[in-house]
Amino acid sequence: MEIKLLFIFFSLSPILLLLFPFSFAQMSGFVSLDCGGNVNFTDEIGLKWTPDDKFTYGEISTISVANETRKQYTTLRHFPADSRKYCYTLDVASRTRYLLRATFLYGNFDNNNVYPKFDISVGATHWSTIVISDANTIETIELIFLVTSPTINVCLSNATTGTPFISTLELRQFNGSVYYTDFENDYYLSVSARINFGAQSNAPIRYPDDPFDRIWESDSSKKANYLVDVATGTQKISTNVSIDVNRNEIPPVKVMQTAVVGTNGSLTYRLDLENFPGFGWAVIYLAEIEDLAEDESRKFRLVLPGQPDLSKLVLNIEENARGKYRLYEPGVTNISLPFVLSFKLGKTSDSSRGPLINAMELNKYLEKNDGSLDGDAMSSVLSQYTSAELANEGGDPCLPVPWSWVRCSLDPRPRIVSIFLSSKNLTGNIPLGITKLTGLVELWLDGNMLTGPIPDFSRCPDLTIIHLENNQLTGSLPATLMKLPHLRELCVQNNMLSGRILSGHNNNLVLNYTGNINLHKGSRKGSDIEAIIIGSAVGAPILLLVTIISFLVTRKGKKKYNVKDHRVSHPSQSTVSSNNDDGPVEGAQCFSYAEIKISTNNFEKKVGSGGFGVVYYGKLDDGKEIAVKVLTSNSYQGKREFSNEVSLLSRIHHRNLVQLLGYCREEGNCMLIYEFMHNGTLKEHLYCPLTHGRSINWIKRLEVAEDAAKGIEYLHTGCVPAVIHRDVKSSNILLDRHMRAKVSDFGLSKIAVEGVSHVSSIVRGTVGYLDPEYYISQQLTDKSDVYSFGVILLELISGQEAISNESFGVNCRNIVQWAKLHIESGDIQGIIDPALRNNYDLQSMWKIAEKALMCVQPHGHLRPSMSEVVKDIQDTISIEKQSRRTSDELSRNSMHSSIKTSSTDLGAADNFLSIDESITLPSAR
Ligand SMILES: *[C@@H]1O[C@H](CO)[C@@H](O)[C@H](O)[C@H]1NC(C)=O
Ligand SMILES: *[C@@H]1O[C@H](CO)[C@@H](O)[C@H](O)[C@H]1NC(C)=O
Ligand SMILES: *[C@@H]1O[C@H](CO)[C@@H](O)[C@H](O)[C@H]1NC(C)=O
Ligand SMILES: *[C@@H]1O[C@H](CO)[C@@H](O)[C@H](O)[C@H]1NC(C)=O
Ligand SMILES: *[C@@H]1O[C@H](CO)[C@@H](O)[C@H](O)[C@H]1NC(C)=O
Ligand SMILES: *[C@@H]1O[C@H](CO)[C@@H](O)[C@H](O)[C@H]1NC(C)=O
Ligand SMILES: *[C@@H]1O[C@H](CO)[C@@H](O)[C@H](O)[C@H]1NC(C)=O
Repeated sequence: MEIKLLFIFFSLSPILLLLFPFSFAQMSGFVSLDCGGNVNFTDEIGLKWTPDDKFTYGEISTISVANETRKQYTTLRHFPADSRKYCYTLDVASRTRYLLRATFLYGNFDNNNVYPKFDISVGATHWSTIVISDANTIETIELIFLVTSPTINVCLSNATTGTPFISTLELRQFNGSVYYTDFENDYYLSVSARINFGAQSNAPIRYPDDPFDRIWESDSSKKANYLVDVATGTQKISTNVSIDVNRNEIPPVKVMQTAVVGTNGSLTYRLDLENFPGFGWAVIYLAEIEDLAEDESRKFRLVLPGQPDLSKLVLNIEENARGKYRLYEPGVTNISLPFVLSFKLGKTSDSSRGPLINAMELNKYLEKNDGSLDGDAMSSVLSQYTSAELANEGGDPCLPVPWSWVRCSLDPRPRIVSIFLSSKNLTGNIPLGITKLTGLVELWLDGNMLTGPIPDFSRCPDLTIIHLENNQLTGSLPATLMKLPHLRELCVQNNMLSGRILSGHNNNLVLNYTGNINLHKGSRKGSDIEAIIIGSAVGAPILLLVTIISFLVTRKGKKKYNVKDHRVSHPSQSTVSSNNDDGPVEGAQCFSYAEIKISTNNFEKKVGSGGFGVVYYGKLDDGKEIAVKVLTSNSYQGKREFSNEVSLLSRIHHRNLVQLLGYCREEGNCMLIYEFMHNGTLKEHLYCPLTHGRSINWIKRLEVAEDAAKGIEYLHTGCVPAVIHRDVKSSNILLDRHMRAKVSDFGLSKIAVEGVSHVSSIVRGTVGYLDPEYYISQQLTDKSDVYSFGVILLELISGQEAISNESFGVNCRNIVQWAKLHIESGDIQGIIDPALRNNYDLQSMWKIAEKALMCVQPHGHLRPSMSEVVKDIQDTISIEKQSRRTSDELSRNSMHSSIKTSSTDLGAADNFLSIDESITLPSAR
C-alpha cells in the first residue's frame, strides 16, 4: 500500500510541480516564467519571476547578450529538434481573458549560429512560427484570449532549423471586457501591433504603468516602420496633465500623454503586420492633449486603402470624447487588413490643426483549433496514468503533433487511431477513457502492471490489434471484445484472466491467450477445439471402450456356463459360494451361475445392452425381479480387484442409485445383479416414447433430473472415497415403476478399466457426453460427471439425442454446440421439445437451460457442483409447480369448479420416497 502511494506521488509530482509554481505572482493572474532559470527573483519593474526548474524536458542554457541584462534573458530552455512537442501547462481561471506572451532571445546559446525556426502552439492551435533572424533580438509573441478550460498548454514543436527554445512565458489576466469580441469562442487575438505614439524614449511602456503589463512599444524604436520624425511636419507632443481614460484596461495614462501630430495636415504610416493579411481587430486611441484656442479645431479622416466607408468618418477628438484630456477610442472589431498596412490621417479642409494619434492596437484573429475529438477521453486517461512519460507531454493528444505514444488520423479534427503504451509501468485498471476512443485501431498496453478486468471496447468498432499481454488482468474476455468486427490480433497471454473464450464471428483472429491458467477456449458456434474433440472421439473408438459392446463374448461365455452344480444361495440370505477361489465378497451376495441361469430362464430376456455388457431380466425364487448384467469377459480386472469393487458398490445405497444386489463369478464369467427397474431408461422415454406410452411432461422431466442429480451428488459427496461415475448418460438413468429415476452403472468403469490395459489414463465415456477437458487433460474429476449431466439436461429440454447427424444442422452434430447457440442468442424456443406442447413455464425452462450451459462449460472449475445443480433443479420445480398452481387457480376460478391439484401427486411421490429410506454410508477401504 505504501509503495503504491509513493509511486503515485512521484508520478504525479511532475505535473503538480509544473502547475503549482505558476500559481503565485505579485498580482493575481500574473505568471512570469523564467525558462531555464533556477531562482525566484523580482525584476527592475517589480515583476516576480519563477524558474521553470521543475520542467522535466529539455536542457538549460545560459547566454550573454550585449545590452540585455535582464535576468530572465540570461537563461533559456531548449528542446530536442525531434518530432515531438514540448509543452508547458499553466493553470488559468476559466471564463476570463488573458494575455499570453512568449519571448525568445537566441543569443547563440548552442554556439551553432543556426537561427532556429520552429512552431509554437496553444493547445491544438498553431500560434506562430518562430523565426529567429538576429541572435541578439528578442522575439515576442502575444495572444489575447478567453479561457475556457482550467489549464492552457503552450507547446514547441516542428523544428525546421536549429534548436527550439524559449526564454520566458508570461500570463497576464485581464479583469474587464475591452478585448471582448463576438468571435472569442472561436478565435484568439494574436497581437500584431501595440504602439505608443510620440513616446519619449525607445523603452516600451509596460508594468507597472500598464496594470496588465501590456507592452506599448515606442514608435521611435522602429522608425523605419512608423516614420515618426521622418515625414516632414510629423511631431511628438506630450502633456503632464492626467488623461481621463475612464475605463479599466484602456491604455495607461502614460501612453495617452504622448502623441504625434501632423503639422502639415497629415500623418502617414506604414506598418508591416505580421501574420496578416487576414481579419483583425483594430483600435486607435485618441485624446486631445494640446490646448487649442477657442476658434481652433482638429478634425481629420482616417484614410485606409480599400476601406472607403471608414474614410468618410470625420474624427473630432474633443467632440467625440466630450472634452480635452479625455479618451476617445474609435475602432473596428472586424476588419480585413493587408500584410503591409499603409494608412493616412488627413485633416479636413475646415480643420485648423493637423491630425493627432496617441496609440493604436492591432490584433489578428487566429482561429482556434478545437483539437482532437478524443481530447476529453484522453484527459481522463491521463488523470489515471500519471507516470512522467505519459502525463508530461501535455497539450492536445494529436495537434499540432501527436503525443509520442499515440498516432492520430489526418482529419481536421483528428481521432486517435493507435496507442502505444507497452512497458510503461502502468498500474491500476485499464483506463476507461481508452474505451471512448471511437477511432481506435491499435492498442498496445502489454508489459505493464495493469490489473482489473478488460473493459468493454464495443465503442471502438475499428479496433484491429489489441495487445494486453504480460499484465495482471483478471476477469474474463468480454464477449464484446470477440465481436469487434475488424479484430485481427488479440494478445492476452500471461495475465490472470479466467473464463472461456467465446469465438466471435471472426475467423481471421489471431488470439494468444497462453499463460492464463483459468482462461480456456470455449465455444459459441462450433469452436475448433470442440470440433476436434468430437472428431477424434469418433475416429478413435479405442479410447472409448465403454461404448463398445461385444455380443460375441457373451455368447462364447454361455457355453462355459453350464457344469458346476454349486448350490444356489437364496438371495435373501447372506451366503457364500463355497466354490469361490477367493472367498466371499464382503457385504455382497454371491449368486451361483446356476441360480442366475434359472432366474433368467437361461438368459432369455435381454432388457438392455449397457456399457459393460448385456443385461437380462430375471426373477428370483422369492419373486424379486432382478437385472443381470453379464460383463464383457475381458473388460474387468483381476479377481481381487473385482471383489473389492463389488464389495464397495454393494454398500452404496441411495434411493436414486440402482442398487447392486450381488454378483456371480464363475470360471471367468462375471455378472452383476441389480434391482430391476421397470420403466427402462430415460433415453427410451425421450426418444422412443411409443414403447412407454406418451412422452413424459416437463415437470416429470424435472423430477427425473432431480433424482438423477441427487444420485450423482451422492456418489460425489456421500461416498468415501468419492465415486466418479464417468459414464453419466440418459441410457444410464433408469426409471422404476413409479417413474422415479435412479442412476445405474456407477463405479463400473473402475472395475472394468484399469485391469485390462494397465493404462489408467485411457479416456472413458460416451461420445456426446464426454467432458472435453477430461478428454484433453485425462484428469478425471467429479466435474466430468457434471458435464455429462448438463448434456442430459439439454436432452430433457429438447428431446434431442446428444449426438445426431441430422438434428443440429450443418457442421453441428453435438447437442451442446447446438443448444448453446440457441440459448445464448436468446432463442430458447428453438430447442424446446415440441412434445412438451407449451406445457411448461418458460421461466423454469430458462433456468434449466442456463444451468445446463453452466454444466457444459468447457472448464471444470467453471461448472457448478452437483449439489448446486440439485438445488437449482429443486428451485425450478417449485417455480414450475407455482406456475401450475396459479394457472390451475385461474382456470378453477373461471370455471367455478374444483380441479384436482398437483398436491395428490406430490403426496404419492413423498410416499414413494419413504419406501427406500435406508441409506448407509459405505465404509472407507
Ligand atoms: C520560488 O518560490 C516558491 C514559492 O514562493 C517556492 O515554492 C520555490 O521553492 C521557490 N523556488 C526557488 C528555486 O527558490
Ligand atoms: C548597447 O548599448 C549601448 C549604450 O547603451 C549602445 O551604444 C549600443 O548601440 C547598444 N548596442 C546595441 C546592439 O543595441
Ligand atoms: C513544420 O514546419 C514546416 C515549415 O515551417 C511547415 O511547412 C509544416 O507544415 C510544419 N509541420 C507541422 C506539422 O506543423
Ligand atoms: C479589476 O477590476 C476592478 C473593477 O472592476 C478594479 O477595481 C481593479 O483594479 C481591476 N484590477 C486590475 C488589475 O486592474
Ligand atoms: C512635465 O513635467 C516635467 C517635470 O515635472 C517637465 O520637465 C516637463 O516639461 C513637463 N511637460 C510638459 C508638457 O509640461
Ligand atoms: C519501470 O520501472 C522500472 C523499475 O522501477 C524502471 O527501471 C523502468 O525504467 C521503468 N520504465 C518506465 C518506462 O518508466
Ligand atoms: C503466445 O505467447 C507466448 C508467450 O508470449 C509465446 O511464447 C507464443 O509463441 C505465442 N503464441 C503465438 C501463436 O503467437
